[in-house]
Amino acid sequence: MPTVFELEQSLFFQTYKRLPVDVIEGHGCYLTDRQGKRYLDFFGGLAVNALGYGHPRILEAIRAQTERYVHLSNFFVQEPQVRLAEKLLEVSRFSRVFFTNSGTEAVEGAIKLARKWGAKRGKKQLLGLSNSFHGRTMGALSLTERPKYREGYEPFLPNTDHIRFNDAQDLRSKINGETLAVFFEPIQGEGGLNVLSREFCDELSALQKKHGFLLVADEIQSGMGRTGRFFGYQHVGLRPDVVVVAKAIGGGLPLGAFLGTEEVASVLTFGVHGTTFGGNPVACAAGRAVLDEIVDGGLMKRAEEIGVRLIAAFRGLQQRYPKLISDVRGFGCMLGVELSVEGQLVVDRLMDRGILVNCTNTKVLRFLPPYIATDEECDKVIAELDAILASL
Ligand SMILES: Cc1ncc(COP(=O)(O)O)c(C=O)c1O
Repeated sequence: MPTVFELEQSLFFQTYKRLPVDVIEGHGCYLTDRQGKRYLDFFGGLAVNALGYGHPRILEAIRAQTERYVHLSNFFVQEPQVRLAEKLLEVSRFSRVFFTNSGTEAVEGAIKLARKWGAKRGKKQLLGLSNSFHGRTMGALSLTERPKYREGYEPFLPNTDHIRFNDAQDLRSKINGETLAVFFEPIQGEGGLNVLSREFCDELSALQKKHGFLLVADEIQSGMGRTGRFFGYQHVGLRPDVVVVAKAIGGGLPLGAFLGTEEVASVLTFGVHGTTFGGNPVACAAGRAVLDEIVDGGLMKRAEEIGVRLIAAFRGLQQRYPKLISDVRGFGCMLGVELSVEGQLVVDRLMDRGILVNCTNTKVLRFLPPYIATDEECDKVIAELDAILASL
């Protein structure tokens, strides 16, 4: 009998490098594999599992909704969508929302919204930042800058370009009256946990006042309270016109959204955009449970506390191993530890010791723990990392 790993190799397009772990179940912050080995998961579904695995409130919301209906077309008003929209807009202080199935579709929707908005204003140019990641569809890829995601997919959308990350001079040179929108991740996830600087953001806001373009925040990874504030851009003093979210919002079910101010919302009128599955009622019911836990259940505060604890510990490790750790950055449950050695080496050793983290941009350990992680779980991760660094 071939193993699932062997079958995977022969059945699938080989787009993923799978971990050698055959997961059979997940509870809280832990995954268990077929051999009964438990893993403490500190990259929780790449920022999806904000409440860990099998959260009772999410499971109950899913169960209750599946007993009512699993799908209705968007010809119908759907109560779970309305309940999620109400809460999301109340917390985010945006005016309107459109639900999608994924992050990249939310980015595509935001691009289309920007295009419609710019059509009457003679504005065409879309700008992203260097080192960015916005998704895999062609529009999102046009704004993504990381070459490894773009190679071989040319040509991209016309009138797209990239500003060097945190380079205010490059920003000034690329923005003009034709600029339609600037897409940014306040904290770059795939790009290595890079945080936008205040100086860059102040310049961006000043240029926006002068030229009147749209600011679009990609909060797919950094949003939903992950950084201790509801959106990552709140750390850097920006006020975008449009924000895109996904990942954690669906509690593990596929869901994304773009939100806009009243001003931009008026450009999306009947029939100009749509989706079959976007805003699936089961995903939205799960989403409302997630949001209630994050906002009213104190988990956003907990995300912040986890960050304070982990950052202090990582900085301690940096002092002890200055030749191995070159930087510690991020907020809350979105942290990066930049190493001077290959990150994968450390990730593999952590996995042997039952800790799952991820490595991005070759040398950056990326920590995306669930907001329910306990102090003991954080300390366990630190102790194991300490032991590995000591052995290097
Ligand atoms: C910042 C950011 N934008 C967009 C995406 C794309 O989201 P999805 O994979 O749901 O299409 C991701 C996914 O990792 C992301 O981190």
